Amino acid sequence: MASSPALTVLYPGSFDPFHNGHLDVVSQAVELFGNVVVAVMHNPDKPSGLIPLAERVQLARQSTAHLSGVRVDAFAGLAVQAAAVAGAHFIVKGLRTPGDFEVEQQMAHTNHSVTGVRTVYLPCRADQAYISSRFIREIAQYGGRIDHMVPASVASALAGIFGKPSGGSEGSS
Ligand code: PNS
Repeated sequence: MASSPALTVLYPGSFDPFHNGHLDVVSQAVELFGNVVVAVMHNPDKPSGLIPLAERVQLARQSTAHLSGVRVDAFAGLAVQAAAVAGAHFIVKGLRTPGDFEVEQQMAHTNHSVTGVRTVYLPCRADQAYISSRFIREIAQYGGRIDHMVPASVASALAGIFGKPSGGSEGSS
């Protein structure tokens, strides 16, 4: 297949924390488009984040360090503004469930209405469709195993915050 010139896409999210599903979307996007800017952003619906923004950026950088064409930065404001600053041709989003589609479709239409930027959806891997940052935070908080859902650097960061996972169902009541 003839290669075409690389495009730049913006992948915005709160990444609190960055997980294997996010990593798969970045991998797909870099393969399809060439350059990916991972935009670590504040989600106004999730005001009480677990990991400070600067550390989320570091963890996403460590998790994607093996991929060329990927940049990770923190952005304030709107995703469409971040897309303009990054010189992105498109926004990319990963889809896991029909519920994701409903939320993302409304955001995509809204973002398009503001600056004309288009959103491209990438399907998540079937075996990773259950992974979510919210459940990872909850499981890590109560000492459950999360290492199969996150890159190693994120697993260590969560162990630093909550302690090491128990690895089993036993424990004090
Ligand atoms: O990982 P998340 O929490 O689902 O990401 C949501 C995020 C950060 C992409 C979304 O909240 C966002 O775009 N925030 C920036 C503010 C913005 O652009 N708001 C208008 C959305 S139409």
